[in-house]
Amino acid sequence: MSNFNIAVLDGDGIGPEVIKQGIKVLNQIAYKFGHKFRFTFAPVGAVAIDETGNPLPEETLDLCKRSDAIFFGSIGHPRFDNDPTAKVRPEQGLLRLRKELGLYANLRPVAGYKELTHLSPLRPERMEGVDMLIVRELTGGIYFGEKGRRDGGDTAFDTCLYTRPEIQRIVKMGFEAAGKRRGKLMLVDKANVMESSRLWREVTREMAADYPAIELGFMFVDNAAMQLILNPAQFDVIVTSNMFGDILSDASSVLAGSLGLLPSSSVGSKVGMFEPIHGSWPEGAGQDRANPVATILSAAMMLDHLGLVKEGDAIRAAVNATLESGVGTEDLNPKKKVGTEEMGDLIAGAIG
Ligand code: IPM
Ligand code: MG
Repeated sequence: MSNFNIAVLDGDGIGPEVIKQGIKVLNQIAYKFGHKFRFTFAPVGAVAIDETGNPLPEETLDLCKRSDAIFFGSIGHPRFDNDPTAKVRPEQGLLRLRKELGLYANLRPVAGYKELTHLSPLRPERMEGVDMLIVRELTGGIYFGEKGRRDGGDTAFDTCLYTRPEIQRIVKMGFEAAGKRRGKLMLVDKANVMESSRLWREVTREMAADYPAIELGFMFVDNAAMQLILNPAQFDVIVTSNMFGDILSDASSVLAGSLGLLPSSSVGSKVGMFEPIHGSWPEGAGQDRANPVATILSAAMMLDHLGLVKEGDAIRAAVNATLESGVGTEDLNPKKKVGTEEMGDLIAGAIG
């Protein structure tokens, strides 16, 4: 039996209701395998701005630092999106959390479900064998480089900066992940244009000598965007910079048929953070319509990271069994849909 302290940052929009299902499933795991999970909730995002004026209050950050893992819902609210003058934004909370905790690697697995191939925007034959992992750098690049305005505000700039150690640690994670999978690593960059991308290539080529068993490839990001649609099965592990990874992971996330299916983990230091890839879907909030699967699978990634791999497998098996039985939230099965709560109940029930 093990004890774990889990910080729960459920955030905005549908965050709280999908997180609730994740906790339901985790409680079932605790019961079945004899563990103890202690969940402590803390505000982040727009909710935190409303309560405290700060998208990442210090108490929330402190809680995260002393927890064993962070279970994260989603953040964002439309009232900030079209207001370029907003001084504080929910997203700043997430970015600061990643930076402060040293979560430099974001892992986003993308795989198709056989029974859901009909939902994919791609023809079924193109979805065959799709199983990839996007390893996205998360605490550097253009997200965190110097940015600002000049000329009285009429010139704006964002800098994409990467150091050799920053590249080495994320590329290492890419090589290692490839070693545990099908042995293929693709570096996606824009080395025909960007100096920072040329450094990524240089460093990755040097490191390749330590991983002779890995088949290494290079691809420009514009081509990669096209290849992800034309022939997604060619990819095993993709390693890429912060912004390219942001864009490509959203694009690949819909291949499986719904954005509501895909989990992610952000790791790099002691505490990892686990969250669905999707956003806060404010229009759907509080209506029992959101798909909790991405969040529940993120809980499985959290258990893997805590060393509870058979427990993580039990969650994945329960999700598979539930999806195979043909039930789903409205994004999966509009004819025979179930709500968020019921989907959570079914998956928790399938754990036994
Ligand atoms: C993501 C999101 C975030 C990002 C936003 C909310 C800041 O799109 O996790 O992919 O751009 O990293
Ligand atoms: Mg994104």
